[in-house]
Amino acid sequence: MSDLHSDIGRKRQRAIYVAGVGGHRPVVPVAQAELEAAAQAAMTPEAWAYIAGGAGRESTLDANRAAFERWRIVPRVLRDVERRDLTIELFGRRLPSPLLLCPIGVLEMAHRDADLAVAKAAATLQVPYIFSNQASVPMETCAAAMGDAPRWFQLYWNRSNDLVSSLVRRAEACGCSAIVLTLDTTMLGWRSRDLDLGSLPFMQGKGIAQYTSDPVFRAELAKPLDVAAGPPPPRNLATIATALAQKANFPGGLLKNLTSGDPRAAVQRFMLTYSRPSLQWDDLKFLRQCTKLPVLLKGVLHPDDARKALELGIDGLVVSNHGGRQVDGGIASLDALPAIAEAVNGKIPILLDSGVRGGADVFKALALGATAVCLGRPYVYGLAIAGQQGVEEVMANVLAEFDLTMGLAGCASVRGITRGALGGG
Ligand code: FNR
Repeated sequence: MSDLHSDIGRKRQRAIYVAGVGGHRPVVPVAQAELEAAAQAAMTPEAWAYIAGGAGRESTLDANRAAFERWRIVPRVLRDVERRDLTIELFGRRLPSPLLLCPIGVLEMAHRDADLAVAKAAATLQVPYIFSNQASVPMETCAAAMGDAPRWFQLYWNRSNDLVSSLVRRAEACGCSAIVLTLDTTMLGWRSRDLDLGSLPFMQGKGIAQYTSDPVFRAELAKPLDVAAGPPPPRNLATIATALAQKANFPGGLLKNLTSGDPRAAVQRFMLTYSRPSLQWDDLKFLRQCTKLPVLLKGVLHPDDARKALELGIDGLVVSNHGGRQVDGGIASLDALPAIAEAVNGKIPILLDSGVRGGADVFKALALGATAVCLGRPYVYGLAIAGQQGVEEVMANVLAEFDLTMGLAGCASVRGITRGALGGG
């Protein structure tokens, strides 16, 4: 299983070119700009805004890409790259390549099969999938479609510790092998595109399946909220449409929920309780007590925070700025990586996301100290275009390019990818 991706570069090239002889073009474009254009065409304006957009003037989105562009690969020659070993070891498990899939919420906006399509695609390629706390499909349903393929769970620390431990217990029970605690979304970033459309998918009851399928959340629905709700929305046709969407997106579907107040209560409770901005380092002890699984912190960008995480016995970090969706003007993840890698000094694995668009980016992140890399928006674009197959194609393209880049740069194994392989910066 671990050599699943061996020689994937040449195999994929051959498959595409041979199909081309028969007049077939890839269903999912390989070139990034075409991939994005095809995905945009397949989505509603609201979905495209939510998925492609960033915070404020989106300068962090740009910075993520600019950082990758500044580093250049300096290939070495005559180094026998006939066989290339893409495997890595992460938390005691051998993986076929240093690639994982980012947790991405509300995938039903991209495709009706949503997380389930991604779970199946990830399992096919044995690429670990990090289930989002904001998924459109409960984690148990996705896990059941994955056999023993690797999956992790991403947690947002909400206001109820009972709900936090329930989510973690469920993750353990459905075979997740690590918990990723996302720390950069204590509040939702200032998302210009969504604001201009007045559109937030959670209001429609989208992206809250991990909550509405949770026994603790369901039990809490009956209790009064101890957080002040804002003014109610105006009453008009659009409000009625939203209420119907909430009912349709609640477990059981529209007809069953027609007279129930639970769908609205669930959306309201979620909106007011999904995050806890008061969270502090000390709170991590609670999570530690909840689980024996490795715990990673996602959204770490400062080396002092990385040192603190090490001191507290955290098992791994995800260097990430949430794809530029939180702090406009924030540092690019890749720019934050070298100092964090130095602070961590190989003691725990470091994952990186934000701006990874192809195999060369994976190579650069590894060279700068990442143990593995998480792919984000591109797989959602594949999902929007062609469901499960689209996700598989995007992943295969990234892995193929990574395999070829590695070989062409003169590296026969992931271990051989070091800082010396890069110039610029
Ligand atoms: C995200 N991301 C995210 N992260 C997380 O921890 N939980 C989540 O539910 C989500 N949801 C989400 C939705 C959408 C539409 C996007 C684009 C991103 C952030 C994600 O895990 C990752 O950090 C970024 O996607 C990386 O940036 P790029 O490479 O996708 O630009």
